[in-house]
Amino acid sequence: MSTDLPAEFNDRFLRACRLEPVDRTPVWFMRQAGRYLPEYRELRKDRDILDLCRTPELAAEATLLPLRRMPLDAAILFSDIMVPVAEMGVEVRIEPGVGPIVDEPFRSARDVARLRPPLEVEANVSYVLETIRLLGKELSVPLIGFSGAPFTIASYLIEGGASRNFERTKALMHGDRRTWHHLMTNLTAIVTTYLRAQIEAGVQAVQVFDSWVGTLDPTDYAHFVLPHSREIFSALADLGVPRIHFGVGTAELLGLMRDAGADVIGVDWRILLNDAWERIGFDVGIQGNLDPAVCLAPWEAVEVKALAVLRRAAGRPGHVFNLGHGVLPGTPPENLERLVALVHERTAKAGGAEWP
Ligand code: CP3
Repeated sequence: MSTDLPAEFNDRFLRACRLEPVDRTPVWFMRQAGRYLPEYRELRKDRDILDLCRTPELAAEATLLPLRRMPLDAAILFSDIMVPVAEMGVEVRIEPGVGPIVDEPFRSARDVARLRPPLEVEANVSYVLETIRLLGKELSVPLIGFSGAPFTIASYLIEGGASRNFERTKALMHGDRRTWHHLMTNLTAIVTTYLRAQIEAGVQAVQVFDSWVGTLDPTDYAHFVLPHSREIFSALADLGVPRIHFGVGTAELLGLMRDAGADVIGVDWRILLNDAWERIGFDVGIQGNLDPAVCLAPWEAVEVKALAVLRRAAGRPGHVFNLGHGVLPGTPPENLERLVALVHERTAKAGGAEWP
């Protein structure tokens, strides 16, 4: 593994998560280790992505690839949201270009019984913890651990794969509330154990990906999801690491997501950053929210849209620059390299608050 990373520890990401003053706005990208990087495609070759996750040396290497190219302010563990359930007896495949596939989806109370907490961290996910330990020796920026949120994992278990309308998930949620809450309670226990173990192994922040929860209206979110998410964040509070809560299409849910209790809320690009932050409250951090598709445009357009995000953040404490969702495979890596430089340059504090 490389030793050419800078030696001094850069904590501006952690400081921003705590709403402390920073010398520059921190920046990292969801899916920063992904197919847009030729070196990632070379590392993965024909390997199954879950096999990559299961091999600590390779998963650590994948985590480090984007940091060798650009001075990102955080690394994110290379893994997948389906890893813990895949190790608890649920058969999951990850198809390139498609996402997770569950061949025997959960449709009834009997299916839910196939997934029994507790997650036995050393028996089930020791390779994740080993990857974290390896990275601890290499990194000079914080390592973000992560988990899928119960709703988003449940949606893959119930639909059997990606979904546009989440019709089976909603049918179970409304048609058999007891089974829904049973599944969500089990997933909540799994996610909590998983994230606590990652923190104990050395991650310095955690992100909970509730990627698909924006499909719900606020009352269903409040009733069927929020109590479980709140439980996760409160069960992590004593560990003192920043907790980030992310979802796509959540503009109408942001006030409720704030109540779930994370330190930082990740937002997509469909809402202007200042409007999102107002809904969340300026006493909580915000992460986002450049449209990832814009990063495929010529640099001049990326620059215009990135500066607009910075203007909307207005130099307030608690902004972590990111895309509104993961880096898309067709993104020119040079655009992200220039974006990191731009965010750092334009937010550099020359003794006082200043922004473009
Ligand atoms: O760099 C990083 O962000 C860290 C690694 C990471 C992966 N998956 C690796 C991966 C992270 C944080 C995830 C989380 C994840 N996985 C989420 C939540 C984030 C989000 O995108 O909303 C979700 C929904 C999944 C499920 C999943 N796994 C999807 C939808 C896909 C994409 C399918 C595709 O090929 O487009 C995957 C596969 C996957 N996981 C890839 C990567 C880098 C794709 C590349 C590959 O096949 O090698």
